Amino acid sequence: MGCGKMIGLSPILDKQSDIPIYKQLYSYIKQEILTGTLRENTRLPSLRQLSAHLMLSKNTVETAYQQLLAEGYLQSRPRSGLRVLPLERMTLVNGSVASRSKEELSHSRLDKPGVLYDFQYGNVELAKFPMKAWKKCLLDALGTEGYEVLGYGDPQGNEQLREEIALYLYQFRGVSCAPNQIFLASGTQIAISLLCQVLPLPSRVGMEDPGYDGVRTVLMNHGREIVPIPLESDGLNLDALRQQAVRTVYVTPSHQFPLGSVLPVQKRSQLLQWAYENEGMIIEDDYDSEFRYQGQPIPALKAMDGGDRVIYLGTFSKSFFPAVRMSYIVLPEKLAAVFRQGIRPYSQSVSPLLQKAMLNFMRDGHYERHIRKMRKLYQTKHQILIKSIHHHMGERVEIIGQKAGLHLLLDVHNRDSGELIARALERGVKAYSPIHHWMDASLCPSSYLMLGFGGLNEGQIEEGVIRMKQAWFSD
Ligand SMILES: Cc1ncc(COP(=O)(O)O)c(C=O)c1O
Repeated sequence: MGCGKMIGLSPILDKQSDIPIYKQLYSYIKQEILTGTLRENTRLPSLRQLSAHLMLSKNTVETAYQQLLAEGYLQSRPRSGLRVLPLERMTLVNGSVASRSKEELSHSRLDKPGVLYDFQYGNVELAKFPMKAWKKCLLDALGTEGYEVLGYGDPQGNEQLREEIALYLYQFRGVSCAPNQIFLASGTQIAISLLCQVLPLPSRVGMEDPGYDGVRTVLMNHGREIVPIPLESDGLNLDALRQQAVRTVYVTPSHQFPLGSVLPVQKRSQLLQWAYENEGMIIEDDYDSEFRYQGQPIPALKAMDGGDRVIYLGTFSKSFFPAVRMSYIVLPEKLAAVFRQGIRPYSQSVSPLLQKAMLNFMRDGHYERHIRKMRKLYQTKHQILIKSIHHHMGERVEIIGQKAGLHLLLDVHNRDSGELIARALERGVKAYSPIHHWMDASLCPSSYLMLGFGGLNEGQIEEGVIRMKQAWFSD
């Protein structure tokens, strides 16, 4: 039976019902299979076809399909699409995926074998990405004549793009800087690497502990000694910082990574005061600043810095998508002059073509619109994740860091993350341990898990939580 017939799938979906649409669609297709209307080996319509046909979002259809895949009603094979499995091979036993063959799972639509709900931190929403606008910006960039996009480009980064970034920083982060204080780099790690090589950063660098191991590793590989500074519930422990013989500190004030606190404004002032009194430098990694869900927005440290003591790092990885590999450094004027001189022998690491496309994207207002849309969407996902955890797991867990960002930590009381991760995987859910972000791994509570939700849709988040609950708590 071909796809043409399948377009005839006509479920009656009740948008007023409390039952999510994806569940209604899932139940309908399941019923059609069990009653034999959809026969063995029948090919189902593609996501695009079915979503267009039923006027639903691709996410909704995908969640329904994934549920059917997970429960063994369907299988997915490369180039052959989704097909109905023979009834005797269906493995719906208490919703478990454990009995499905490895081969079937590895052909499922998701990229990791057996993983149906991947709570990987760093994944972002792709389904709502404004692909049409971005393609147009890329094509327009390609149409640019000469070496502006086909050569190495300005070592500091496209000047007009730096103007757009300066405008964005002023409007949304309160940061006032000139375009010539901005330097592009293809990611935060490259930015840190350049700071080590060119500025250069001093031999000892203070770092939040736990803190982002992606930055810590780069600092260590450049021979820097890391001085761990412990955290309090509201971020960096300033007394502990003051006791250290260190004059440069890397911090994530907008959303402490990985514990998720937001540094209060009083503490920001005190941190700046520390820098002024010690001729210190603060490296402010402002990642996730776009996604704050509670309270008033707090200006960046850089915006409060009257004494040129803050090196600011921004990235497009969360607000746009990671593959664009584009981030930027904002340096105080004096350091910018030194840095500009120092990078003269270096080629710019971000493709001039992508820079030009991003310039078009920002200039045409797409970037601002995209962020506004994503903030709402992530806020909804964030609420659903928190609500689902409270609803399904109750007192057995505690959520850590829920004011901002695209991830949170879960403390599953008196349990071990290794066992929890393995059990969740048996049910098709991938959860992660945050252990490598602790300087001393033995200090990371073994009951902590890290859940990134950016890449999952709302139905997948709830289903993922339900499966973790089933995997961890048998009652
Ligand atoms: C603390 C922190 N900073 C920055 C980034 C972004 O890094 P990049 O710009 O290299 O994608 C991440 C992403 O995981 C992060 O966790």
